Amino acid sequence: MVLAGLVPFFLAYTTTHTDTLEIINTRNLNCGVGDNAVTNGYVHLKNGHMFFSLFEGKNEAKNSGLVVQFEGGPGATAFDYPFIGAGPCQLTPEGESSLSGLSPAPYPWTDYVNLLVVDYPIGTGWSYNTSDQNPASTSDRAAEEFDDFLQVILKQWPQFQSQPLIMSTLSYGGTTGAHIAATILKRNQAVQDQLFPRRVVKQFDQLLFGKPFADAISEIYSQWDVLCNDEPKAYNQTVCNNLRNNLTPCLDKLRYLEDIESTQEFRKDAVQDCIQSVEINFKAPAYNRYHRSRPKCWPTNTQDMREWLGVTGHIEKWWYAGPALLRFINSADIMQNAYKLLQPVLESGTRLLVHNGIEDTMVMPSGTVSWMKRLPNPHLQSFRSSEVQQVSNHIMKGTVINPGSDYSHIAIEEAGHIVIETHAALLQEMVKEAVQGRNYNPSS
Ligand SMILES: *[C@@H]1O[C@H](CO)[C@@H](O)[C@H](O)[C@H]1NC(C)=O
Ligand SMILES: *[C@@H]1O[C@H](CO)[C@@H](O)[C@H](O)[C@H]1NC(C)=O
Repeated sequence: MVLAGLVPFFLAYTTTHTDTLEIINTRNLNCGVGDNAVTNGYVHLKNGHMFFSLFEGKNEAKNSGLVVQFEGGPGATAFDYPFIGAGPCQLTPEGESSLSGLSPAPYPWTDYVNLLVVDYPIGTGWSYNTSDQNPASTSDRAAEEFDDFLQVILKQWPQFQSQPLIMSTLSYGGTTGAHIAATILKRNQAVQDQLFPRRVVKQFDQLLFGKPFADAISEIYSQWDVLCNDEPKAYNQTVCNNLRNNLTPCLDKLRYLEDIESTQEFRKDAVQDCIQSVEINFKAPAYNRYHRSRPKCWPTNTQDMREWLGVTGHIEKWWYAGPALLRFINSADIMQNAYKLLQPVLESGTRLLVHNGIEDTMVMPSGTVSWMKRLPNPHLQSFRSSEVQQVSNHIMKGTVINPGSDYSHIAIEEAGHIVIETHAALLQEMVKEAVQGRNYNPSS
């Protein structure tokens, strides 16, 4: 009798409850200086399966907070970061071969915090969907999938509900991350009057954005400006004239999207004037756009690279970055100004720390500062009236705007797009300060 009564309840529960967590394994990552627990798994959602690894913080850091790391693209895997400095072990040419080429990272984030690395959106890295699943192709809908994912994580590890929560992302993560922060806030507000809400009400304490692409307009005119007018110049006069001719129609179309309506059709139309071909973006420039003082990385001898990598003959395009990228390109998601979504997030008390590498010409410091100077938020006036201060300390040289506040910008000399590559100590310091409840201040 009791069982019969329970069965319908159980069925109802399992059919409505699709968001489940599967732990694949918990591994001990050891690169010669002690044990590091890493838990790997999937969160199964209605639209797909999101892969994550939880790198446990060392000793007391276990109780200090959670940094959630995902990357840009959209569609770029986040699994470089934990092995190029953020995790306890890194891949280096001189790494011990008996330890899979790993050696201890000199400035791991895990000394201060727990690190959750996630392949996002669905269709990135090891996150996938099956043919009957229909994952989001735009960052607004994908943010709902992220929130569903995070809810499952926070229920599985309830200790993180009361620890500082930090979002760390880069590049296109400026767009997807702004949507995520705004969606979580909106969903939290929707249940604020409920006594026992079904969701975990938890908000990000800090957003740590590396060279965020968060406003198409600012990025497009600052790219033209930097690539065609700064020394060294990226392009010859012919290419620059072309870019200049496209600029006005491009900006006109982006204003229409911003002010009137943002349909997929109009966004795709804007792409025609605003986005250059892969050849113009990466082959034509005189330098490596991810790090201006390095030689460009266009494969001049594709055959060698193909053989070395073992790519099969019929695959033509080496820059293919996976299903998530293709879905987002098809919806022209990039033609938007996601930074505006951050206004309520900042008003609700979340801090924002943004940094750019000065040698990066994919997402320029000037474009980032441009939208930061017109994002309405409680710190806008102090940001606008703050001078650009020069900084030089033991971990960075560069500039800072509005240092020591909850809304500040740091530009780093000699750093390119992947700042952790050259400035691991600086990023560790940013994470350490975030966990303590403040933005890193390079001038203190
Ligand atoms: C989901 O994945 C399958 C491959 O398993 C793919 O054919 C399908 O198009 C995907 N759906 C979306 C919306 O990407
Ligand atoms: C300028 O650069 C483009 C792209 O690399 C190239 O196709 C073109 O021939 C160049 N034009 C001149 C005049 O050098």
